[in-house]
Amino acid sequence: MEMKRKTIPCLMIAIAMGFFCTESRDPVLHRVGGGRYTWRTNVSFTEWASHDQFYKGDWLYFGFNKQLYSVLEVNKTSYQNCIDRDFIMNITRGGRDVFQLLEAKPYYFISGKGFCSRGMKVAINVEELPPEVPGFLMTSRAFTFHKHSHAVFSLLLTMAWVFT
Ligand SMILES: *[C@@H]1O[C@H](CO)[C@@H](O)[C@H](O)[C@H]1NC(C)=O
Ligand SMILES: *[C@@H]1O[C@H](CO)[C@@H](O)[C@H](O)[C@H]1NC(C)=O
Ligand SMILES: *[C@@H]1O[C@H](CO)[C@@H](O)[C@H](O)[C@H]1NC(C)=O
Repeated sequence: MEMKRKTIPCLMIAIAMGFFCTESRDPVLHRVGGGRYTWRTNVSFTEWASHDQFYKGDWLYFGFNKQLYSVLEVNKTSYQNCIDRDFIMNITRGGRDVFQLLEAKPYYFISGKGFCSRGMKVAINVEELPPEVPGFLMTSRAFTFHKHSHAVFSLLLTMAWVFT
């Protein structure tokens, strides 16, 4: 009897650990604007960015016509005012260019040659990588869910303690 009462909570803990304490997330490549060649005018980058989550270690992909556009990393002031002088970094290479988001902070990118004021600017807020992700659900919704996994796990531990 004593054995049985302890077995069930222990099983619950094992299951919870299997669900919540598994694989870490691989870096994701985000195509800026949503497509292969969508670093251009007439794309709402604010809307695009609002539908995605960016974590430390992820990559951005800029696909564009390098004859027309460029990609410059700038600070917030330059982003707001479309200033392409004294940028932080020139990411422009061949027009299929990648950039790794190495820090959890806001990043700002604009196109030079006057296209920033025509909407070619994007702000990316990079978050700290979540410590773990539920192994059974690898969708973006799972990421919001997993934030509560510690609470769920603590609850299960408490329940186990109460019932034994
Ligand atoms: C962008 O939108 C404007 C106004 O809607 C349009 O005149 C122009 O042709 C579009 N440019 C491109 C590259 O799609
Ligand atoms: C942003 O960059 C511009 C150009 O280099 C510089 O003049 C300005 O002081 C910077 N602003 C901040 C808040 O760092
Ligand atoms: C950025 O780099 C590209 C490719 O090296 C170059 O063609 C372009 O002139 C540079 N842009 C600025 C603003 O320095």
